[in-house]
Amino acid sequence: MGNDQSTTERRILSGMRSSNPRLHIGNYEGALRNWVELQNQGFKMFCMVADWHALTTMYEQAGEVGRNAIEVAKDYVAAGIDPAKSTIFIQSQVKEHAELHLLFSMMTPLGWLERNPTYKEKQQDIGVAEREPYGLLGYPVLQTADILLYRPWGVPVGRDQAPHLEIGNDIGGRFNRLYGQDVFPAFKYMIPEDESRAKLPGLDMRKMSKSYDNCIYLSDSEDETAKKIKSAYTTPSKQRKTDPGIPEGCAVCQYLKIYHPNWQPLWEEDRAGERGCMQNKTECIEAVNEYFRPMRERRAALDDGAILEVLAKGREEATAVAVETMRLVRDAMGLSYGL
Ligand code: TRP
Repeated sequence: MGNDQSTTERRILSGMRSSNPRLHIGNYEGALRNWVELQNQGFKMFCMVADWHALTTMYEQAGEVGRNAIEVAKDYVAAGIDPAKSTIFIQSQVKEHAELHLLFSMMTPLGWLERNPTYKEKQQDIGVAEREPYGLLGYPVLQTADILLYRPWGVPVGRDQAPHLEIGNDIGGRFNRLYGQDVFPAFKYMIPEDESRAKLPGLDMRKMSKSYDNCIYLSDSEDETAKKIKSAYTTPSKQRKTDPGIPEGCAVCQYLKIYHPNWQPLWEEDRAGERGCMQNKTECIEAVNEYFRPMRERRAALDDGAILEVLAKGREEATAVAVETMRLVRDAMGLSYGL
């Protein structure tokens, strides 16, 4: 069975963990830019901050996870998620996520979770088996609850999340078969075909990541951005302007491609040894700062009080859908007890 939501009512659910206090432009390209586009196409967006998921690796820093959640929500709004059109909420504020997670945990075969590649990676990071939290294995079960609670039409994520989405539809399908009702229509995996934006490199051409200290943050000032781009990695064999560049391997050229409206001639000049790295950097700084200026202004205007209001409204909107789904779930399972 398909999903009977009409186009303008099609719900989309996505989220990010609040493991870091600030989102970088790689997070923006990999997710937020896409969410804003979907919002503007008229989809009903549910943008969640996954604080519980952050705890799977940061339970010792729970306070940090909570403070980060507020900052991440600010970045959502700064990036263009409009609280009047979309629902912005924190996972732990909608308790139904916990209830659905618990029910799914009863019917999810362990093998599905043990096979999950992201679990195996994290397990290796942690190393000592005794220190590995129970919640880590169940990560995709909680993510499935996050998703299916909203019975969404689609879920936009990066390719790395594909295994979790598959577990999600597998659990939904299993529930439907077990209890003989189509409570959870299959949702679509909205994984970008063109991954060049989503794979925006860091200042040193490695993956953009806080742990590598190679990020430009959405909330960086224009001066910070300029300083970072000035010291960014460029083609090492290009010592002077007349040396040929390799724009595919140069962080500054990669940013130009995304943020400079007319990047092609710049790339060709770089390749031909007709322009220097300093010139590239100057134009890159301008292009990046121009692109993010409105977002940074929106973010600066947003204080804690304002974002808490947005989150209170989001919590109500999310809860309304979640409560309805839980009623369907309990009815299907025969656990309604006349309520
Ligand atoms: N696991 C996702 C990530 O690491 C975050 C997440 C939690 C999520 N719940 C979700 C993404 C539900 C999409 C849908 O990025």
